Amino acid sequence: MGSTAESTGRVAMQRSADDPGPMSPIPHRVVGRKVETGDVTTLSLVPVAGEAWRFLPGQFNMLTAYGVGEAAISVCSSRREVGPFRHTVRDVGPVTAALCRSTVGDIVGVRGPFGTSWGVDDSLLATGDVVVVAGGIGLAPLRGAIDDLVHRTDAAGGRVFVVSGAREPAQVIFADDLEAWRRDGAEIAVTVDMAPTGWRGHVGLVTSMLSEIDFDPSTSSALICGPEIMMRLTARALVDRGIDPGRIRVSLERNMQCGLGWCGHCQLGPFLLCRDGPVLPYAGAVAQLLSERER
Ligand SMILES: Cc1cc2nc3c(=O)[nH]c(=O)nc-3n(C[C@H](O)[C@H](O)[C@H](O)COP(=O)(O)OP(=O)(O)OC[C@H]3O[C@@H](n4cnc5c(N)ncnc54)[C@H](O)[C@@H]3O)c2cc1C
Ligand code: FES
Repeated sequence: MGSTAESTGRVAMQRSADDPGPMSPIPHRVVGRKVETGDVTTLSLVPVAGEAWRFLPGQFNMLTAYGVGEAAISVCSSRREVGPFRHTVRDVGPVTAALCRSTVGDIVGVRGPFGTSWGVDDSLLATGDVVVVAGGIGLAPLRGAIDDLVHRTDAAGGRVFVVSGAREPAQVIFADDLEAWRRDGAEIAVTVDMAPTGWRGHVGLVTSMLSEIDFDPSTSSALICGPEIMMRLTARALVDRGIDPGRIRVSLERNMQCGLGWCGHCQLGPFLLCRDGPVLPYAGAVAQLLSERER
């Protein structure tokens, strides 16, 4: 699966003459498996044959659990990591359960990468701070973007703030990454909705942390990924703090089938989210669509 980055931030597929086409999953071998929490597992995948592919943080693949089905799963590798491609999967139904059950040596199908990216480049930090807000498994699609941002801070100037929320301490994912990003200069805040006795961290929704962060809203950007209600409330809170809605990006999820803009299953208003999303600016039509879903 070769690919080239376009100026739009998308990645275009390049396939050879004997390529079976974009609807055929490419077999990948599971070379690593890490249980993150009770229902979340990270799979590290390498192509069985052929070259490694390129991706941009925020893009997703369609992963096939052979004999069960296909599901959209974000690439959660960072671009500094050479080697297997990581995908972090939450078991919510038949396909994701089968993917989570995969063990080292198993074969998983991969189509992609598809969709838009977080658009993380030097210009994002050059204009100001970046506030990243994740809810639950929403940290997975953001992992590569955060890693890019943290390792460009010195060059470009802006600060990186990460607010990560989970239902309870046992549901916090990527604790090692959060600690590493903190060591590398990012300001990290972790909060849980509810906590057992003995938890010394913050308890409350991610939105409750935003007033405690010392970013400069007039120049900041924000990246948000999590359940839709969390993204809506977080985006509004950031706009209330003074961030321009056009500098806030959200990642929207819908039922993905083809991933190619062919079938229409992922349509939301004027957008085909597999093609125009999943990452979109929280401005205009997107802000309106998210608000309308409240009625
Ligand atoms: C662009 C994109 C990126 C994604 N990235 C990841 C990822 O990195 N890790 C991950 O674990 N999941 C991710 N998802 C969600 C994942 O695709 C679904 O959880 C999966 O398709 C469920 O398939 P299933 O057959 O296991 O369960 P199903 O039987 O299809 O669904 C089980 C339950 O989950 C709900 N559900 C299904 N799809 C979604 C969805 N997209 N969002 C919210 N609820 C849903 C269903 O309504 C149902 O209640 C992503 C989805 C999209 C669109
Ligand atoms: S999933 Fe088919 S058009 Fe988007």
